[in-house]
Amino acid sequence: MKVNQFAPWVGTEEYLAIADCFESNWITEGPKSKAFSAQLLDLIGAKYGVFAPNGTLALYLGLRAMDIGPGDEVIVPDFTFIASATSVHMAGATPVFVEVNRDNFQIELSHADHLVNDKTKAIMPVHIYGTIADMDAVAQFAKKHNLLVIEDAAAALGVHYKGQHAGTFGDIGTFSFFADKTITTGEGGFVVTSNEEMHHKLLLLRNQGRVDRGSFIHPEMGYNFRITDIQAAIGQVQLAKLPQIIARKEAIKQYYLQRLGQIEEISFLTPAPEADWVPFRVAILADNAQAIRDFMKDKGVEPRTLFYPLHKQPCFAYLKEKNPQNMRSDNFPNSIYAYENGMSLPSFPALTEEQMAYVCSVIEAYYGK
Ligand SMILES: Cc1ncc(COP(=O)(O)O)c(C=O)c1O
Repeated sequence: MKVNQFAPWVGTEEYLAIADCFESNWITEGPKSKAFSAQLLDLIGAKYGVFAPNGTLALYLGLRAMDIGPGDEVIVPDFTFIASATSVHMAGATPVFVEVNRDNFQIELSHADHLVNDKTKAIMPVHIYGTIADMDAVAQFAKKHNLLVIEDAAAALGVHYKGQHAGTFGDIGTFSFFADKTITTGEGGFVVTSNEEMHHKLLLLRNQGRVDRGSFIHPEMGYNFRITDIQAAIGQVQLAKLPQIIARKEAIKQYYLQRLGQIEEISFLTPAPEADWVPFRVAILADNAQAIRDFMKDKGVEPRTLFYPLHKQPCFAYLKEKNPQNMRSDNFPNSIYAYENGMSLPSFPALTEEQMAYVCSVIEAYYGK
């Protein structure tokens, strides 16, 4: 049997929704985008939202709306997808990496006071692998050091902490609608805020420095970060499927937890108390992760490592010259542990019962069970 790491879950409904764009002859950002935005804000519980072409540019827009730029530093977890940090670089600022916790690999701020200096302007909790950071601890840290908060909630649609949706705790929250995210529009991103001034900046930045389309007078410097109604049409159908998607992901997670939980060499993430867990992928941890991945590959199951620590990324080597102390590997044992011992299992909604059972039987076979 062959099991891919991921396959998108789109079908006839999305296809028919696109046809509607052609029939109404409205393909650029228009009525469907407006309706999709309102539905997302209703779900997330934020006051304002703007679309971006993807999650990376959503982060960039958010950082710029917070006035972050050259000379500023932003604290970013060491264990995340590269875009959390490259968006900071793109805004002209410097990412400063912080360790993650051992239970669920979310940002760990208990020993991060020394990272703050007079250049530090913001902190970016990243809600990783479908669960969410301890946002009480983030809020406390931000308040203590007078920092802005931008939440990278790329993979956290439908994820709450103490009943509040990811992306609404900080000044800005961002989401991704890439094919492997909870809902998809192919590519796409969304920025939320409840701050009116930041919302106004977002509107100007994303639409050529003007609020209204059609005017050739541009009060501010802005660009084109718009999406299309074709994407919004897909997004609306996907959003209607969200309860089904979450239920399916929950069922997959429970299956893996129950069956692979019998293998004592394997462990799972433990989300923070009162944190949801809608697995982006189900991550497992084992001492011999590389050997298991090789074995799985041989048996037709596509394996994937977890994220590579940012302080080791070749593209961030320049930061070692700036601050060798902060970039030392002994600051990041948990982030390194996650990469060296972790792997993600196929967890997409279209995964069949047979495929799930096969993935587990391959891992059991590796352990001789
Ligand atoms: C944590 C995180 N942040 C940002 C992004 C970037 O989103 P996009 O691929 O839509 O640019 C991703 C995408 O995988 C992500 O996982």
